[in-house]
Amino acid sequence: MAKVVIENLLKIFPEKNGPGVRAVNAINLLVEDREFMVLVGPSGCGKSTTLRMIAGLEEITGGTIAIDGRVVNQVLPKDRDIAMVFQNYALYPHMSVYDNLAFGLKLRGLPKAKIAARVREAAALLGLEPYLERKPKALSGGQRQRVAVGRAIVRKPKVFLFDEPLSNLDAKMRVSTRTEISKLHARLGVTMIYVTHDQVEAMTMGDRICVMKDGNIMQVAEPLTLYNHPENLFVAGFIGSPPMNFFSGTVERDGHQLVFSETGNSGTPLRIRLNDALSRKAAGHVGRPLTLGIRPEDVDDAVAVTEADPGRTAEVKIEVVEPMGAETYLYLDTGATSFIARVRASDRFDTNHRLKVVFDVEKAHLFDPTTEQVLK
Ligand SMILES: Nc1ncnc2c1ncn2[C@@H]1O[C@H](COP(=O)(O)OP(=O)(O)OP(=O)(O)O)[C@@H](O)[C@H]1O
Ligand SMILES: [Mg+2]
Repeated sequence: MAKVVIENLLKIFPEKNGPGVRAVNAINLLVEDREFMVLVGPSGCGKSTTLRMIAGLEEITGGTIAIDGRVVNQVLPKDRDIAMVFQNYALYPHMSVYDNLAFGLKLRGLPKAKIAARVREAAALLGLEPYLERKPKALSGGQRQRVAVGRAIVRKPKVFLFDEPLSNLDAKMRVSTRTEISKLHARLGVTMIYVTHDQVEAMTMGDRICVMKDGNIMQVAEPLTLYNHPENLFVAGFIGSPPMNFFSGTVERDGHQLVFSETGNSGTPLRIRLNDALSRKAAGHVGRPLTLGIRPEDVDDAVAVTEADPGRTAEVKIEVVEPMGAETYLYLDTGATSFIARVRASDRFDTNHRLKVVFDVEKAHLFDPTTEQVLK
């Protein structure tokens, strides 16, 4: 069992003539035994600092970290039963792959036969057997990366920590190494905490994802829950590519229904009739500012939809057409808001023409722009 329990974890870096940098703001996070937890967020949000505190490489200002039921705040890194793989995984250049893998175990004084067995086992798992006698400079970037992961594996830790381990690899290598790490997680059956600022990596690798911003946790959930039910504007805009579209407006009563109406548009404002679920959520917000969020795949060319609901369509201007092959991204404009639609690749679209689009309101979200929280 290697559950990691983080309670009120705080990190303030001292600062000359200032109150200090609040890098991690009293966060609470529970990582289950054998879970693959991804920490994701923009640069500077506190991901590495959190990971380094778990590893014992950074002093804790406040709160506790418990691994496997034991509070480790005062435990030395080497006694925490964890292994960390960094972005800059410096291998020893003068040592062979074998010796790079064996080095940490030698330092710990493990018997030679045991070291050999562990190194062989890790090399087999990572497909490194043909390269054991080579020096790191004679390896590809991806192979070097595997050696760095191998150094962690041979230690048989309870918890693996990864800090952006793929960011030095080219795009293709990133994808293949990403799958390798996922497979490794399944095979080893250990707890892994993985830091990245790449939301695609987060979505594809994590059992759960912890989204961070400015030292705070914005939401912790399974990938598709984050995607389909973001709790706040930040998560809604951060997860998904191209990102969710946002429209500023208000809701108005129209008979017994509620209609979202875009603000700031001197031409024809976007008007979208809400469904029952959204109407219920917005009932207490009539006449007050709201933000409507809808993903690009939930906006479609009205011609492609049978019986497009006229209360949920709008005529907009096509600004840019991006054929992606499998689909086409349309960059559109209502006159007040720029937004993106993902449509069928088979249809032809012309820049500067007008297009009737339809919004799938079942997939839309409403946020309070003041609190930035989703309406519930
Ligand atoms: N040693 C330090 N002294 C002062 N401030 C620091 C120190 N290390 C980090 N910080 C600050 O703490 C905040 C969090 O940094 P951290 O390295 O955890 O971010 P991150 O989420 O890992 O970002 P990135 O994606 O760029 O790696 C940042 O504002 C950073 O400038
Ligand atoms: Mg970092």
